[in-house]
Formats: sequence, C-alpha cells, structure tokens
Amino acid sequence: MLKKCLFPVAGYGTRFLPATKAMPKEMLPLVNKPLVQYGVEEAIEAGLTEVGFVTGRGKRAIEDHFDTNFELEQQIAGTGKERYLDSVRKVIDSASFSYTRQGEMKGLGDAILQGQRLIGDEAFGVVLADDLCLNEELGVLGQMVQLYKQFRCSIVAVEEVPKEQIHKFGVIAGNEIKPGLYQVTDMVEKPKAEDAPSNMAIIGRYILTPDIFDLIRETPPGKNGEVQITDALLTQAKRGCVLAYRFKGRRFDCGSVDGFVEATNHVYKNIYLPGEKG
Ligand code: UTP
Repeated sequence: MLKKCLFPVAGYGTRFLPATKAMPKEMLPLVNKPLVQYGVEEAIEAGLTEVGFVTGRGKRAIEDHFDTNFELEQQIAGTGKERYLDSVRKVIDSASFSYTRQGEMKGLGDAILQGQRLIGDEAFGVVLADDLCLNEELGVLGQMVQLYKQFRCSIVAVEEVPKEQIHKFGVIAGNEIKPGLYQVTDMVEKPKAEDAPSNMAIIGRYILTPDIFDLIRETPPGKNGEVQITDALLTQAKRGCVLAYRFKGRRFDCGSVDGFVEATNHVYKNIYLPGEKG
C-alpha cells in the first residue's frame, strides 16, 4: 500500500529573506521544532515512512536534521537536556530518508517529476511543509490515506477560503459524492476572484497515483512559466478520476509571515507549553 511521501523543498522562500538566505525556509522553527519536522511527523503518522526530499541549493540543513549528530549526542548524553532530542530521534528511528535535486526551479509540477527517481511506480503522498496542518485526531495525510484505500485515485486536500484570497491558490470545481468529498471536474491555478470556479482551494497535501509523472511530462509550463501540478491533475481528472477532500483540522500558511506568526503562537500555547508542563 502507500508507504512513500515526497517533500518538495527546493523553493527559495523569498518571503522570509534575509532569514532564508543561507537557511532553508523549511527549517524555520515553530517554537523549537522546524516546520519540516511537523510535516514528516504527519507522514509517519499516516504510515508513509519512506520519506523523499526534492531539494535544491542551500538545503543541506534538512539532511543534517534527519541524521544523527554524534558530537551533540555525546555532549548531552545522560544530562537533562537529552529529552530535547526525543522527538527528532523518534522520527529518525521511524522513517528512512532519501534526497534528490531539482536542478532548476521550474515549478511544483517539475519538482514532483524530479521525485520520480525516489518514488518509482507506486502511489505516494506529497507534503508541502510550509502548510502546517494540525488536527486533534488523525492528521490530514492520514485522513487522505484512508480515502485512498477506498477510492484508489489521486486526492487533493482542499479548504474553503474567502474570495479575496482565492487568487493565491489552485482552485477546484467538482461534484460532491459524499459530504466533504468531491469528484473534480475543473481546476484553475491562481484564478482572479471573478474567474474562480469555487471557493475550494487546494492546500499542500496530495496523494498521487504514478501515472501523474507522464502527465506532468506532457504538461507545458503554465502560470508564471512554471510547470503546474494543477494542470497535470486536471488532465488526470478528465481522463480518469481525481478527488478533492475537505479535510478535518486546521491549516496555517507558514509560507507567509502572517501565517507563520499565527502558527507560532498557536503551537506555543497549545503544544509547547502543555508539553513542558506535562
Ligand atoms: P512556494 O512558491 O510557496 O515556495 O512553493 P517558495 O518559492 O519557496 O516561497 P516564496 O514564494 O519564494 O516565498 C510551494 C512549495 O513548492 C516547492 C517549495 O519548496 C514549496 O514547498 N517548490 C516550488 C519546489 O520544490 N520547486 C519549485 O520549482 C517550486
């Protein structure tokens, strides 16, 4: 069944410059844990324990994060500080990690295509770590894996967004086949509010069937000259089936400064502080 998850992390993170000049945006911490670790924990919870990163220049810190740091481990062994490494140790022990590079930043579709080397010919999850998704029960990717087992086709996570924000997202139109689940009939990348087919925006969680790779190869560059995953998904929807799932939980757009600050406050109050007290 599903066991692989791809993390496209080749982006420049320009909205966080100068912080992201020499450090990947995915390593920005929400309190004491880097964004990317939240995403990897969500993948592991969903049973996707073979984690693949599509990286670019300046992303080595991600590789180091998911590896043992012997000097540091030795230094704090047996002290009260050891517990600070508990969460990342657990992640390292629960998953395997592999890396490939996107030579040129040609869009999310292209980044996913570069990931074919790590995925092969099987269905897989995709997590954009700058979308932080939290849910008190099963995480968003876990919810999508359950649906995949039932429907066996590509699934995108969607949420309703206000009209004035719709131009920032890929937007779907679809027929609701059961509450919160839509069969996609149309998809538009970053439409103007008046052209948007609905208020249902795609967020950074996907399950993709492997035929997507050939469809991406057939997809010419779209909006902003980038190869858009939404264009390839629309072809897939027209030829077969793509589902859109209105997930349970809360999403924070940590790729923007406002969303990042909101997420930081939320995590501090609801996750970090209770953990320290417990
Ligand atoms: P974004 O456009 O939100 O990320 O891409 P960015 O480019 O890093 O951020 P800004 O706009 O400059 O601040 C969404 C996700 O897709 C990945 C990014 O790393 C991010 O996780 N991505 C995007 C790639 O890996 N390669 C690409 O060519 C484009």
